[in-house]
Amino acid sequence: MLHGPNLNLLGSREVDIYGTLTLDDINRRLADKAGELGVHVRCQQSNHEGVLIDAIHQAAEWAAGIVINAGALTHTSIALRDALAAVRLPAIEVHLSNVYTREAFRHASVIAPVCIGQIAGLGPLSYTLALQALVERLRQKSSD
Ligand code: DQA
Repeated sequence: MLHGPNLNLLGSREVDIYGTLTLDDINRRLADKAGELGVHVRCQQSNHEGVLIDAIHQAAEWAAGIVINAGALTHTSIALRDALAAVRLPAIEVHLSNVYTREAFRHASVIAPVCIGQIAGLGPLSYTLALQALVERLRQKSSD
């Protein structure tokens, strides 16, 4: 699970848009969901594009897939998109807010074309649904 810029401020940042749960709360929910699903999830947050890119490269060494909320980098970072495309791990893009009801610059995602899907607007539920979808997709693939 990769969390991008400013998501460390969840709980106090624009609570009318992002809610009052902290990043630790969200990570705990993900850990609980992972336990239910019988998988291991590792959560990392960074405000730095390069650190996120390194984490994607490293994920190729150990992870089966990626859930990513790239924050504002979603809308701008070709480098993040290229990293996801390079490692070819199945990835799901998530957003707490419904980016399509917000400013026009949030309507475009440069990472969406290299993700298998996107979940936006469901608050913290976006994350656990994404994890569940990723695990189901991986299990489906391995039984094909
Ligand atoms: C966000 C939406 C982005 O547009 C914004 O820059 C964020 C959070 C979300 O989860 O709703 O930082 O990714």
